[in-house]
Amino acid sequence: MRDVPLILVGFMGCGKSTVGRLLAQRLDWPFVDLDDQIEAAAGRTIREIFESSGEAEFRRQERVALQALLASATQDPHRVIALGGGTFVQPDNFELLQSASVRSLFLDVPFDELYQRCAQMTNRPLFRDAQAFADLYRRRLPFYQQAQYTIAAAAADPEQIVDRIVERIACPQMSLGKR
Ligand code: S3P
Repeated sequence: MRDVPLILVGFMGCGKSTVGRLLAQRLDWPFVDLDDQIEAAAGRTIREIFESSGEAEFRRQERVALQALLASATQDPHRVIALGGGTFVQPDNFELLQSASVRSLFLDVPFDELYQRCAQMTNRPLFRDAQAFADLYRRRLPFYQQAQYTIAAAAADPEQIVDRIVERIACPQMSLGKR
């Protein structure tokens, strides 16, 4: 199997950025966070985009950033990419990612743990209250579950989650640790 970008998906707070950064270090591949790309292109934080332009405009910018990232990954597939929590569940993005040459990995963390983690952070525009958070999770879970790999990511040291990912995706043809 040839190398393809590794795409981390999952709900807010599941650890996509933390695990993604460590996974990238382990593979010696670059790490790209889609939210950072959106902020850099817009010159505004995600919160500012939501507040001044609304979610629909954020989703438009998110799609543009995703398309650019996937286009550049056709030149060099050695990337670990963390999506935002909503990226994979937008139908257009879902179709694009399911047909792209990538491996998608769902970081599966139980709802209660996600809630505890996100309740302590203030930078998530879609975190409003427990009921809205639960509804969003319930609507999104069926999308995440269609990722190619589901990785149990509850209450574990991020390095252990990286171990699990590497075990699951490792195969002799994949040049782990090399660019
Ligand atoms: C979002 C999650 C955020 C960010 C934006 C929208 C979502 O990313 O993309 O606030 O729709 O769940 P994280 O999952 O990294 O928090």
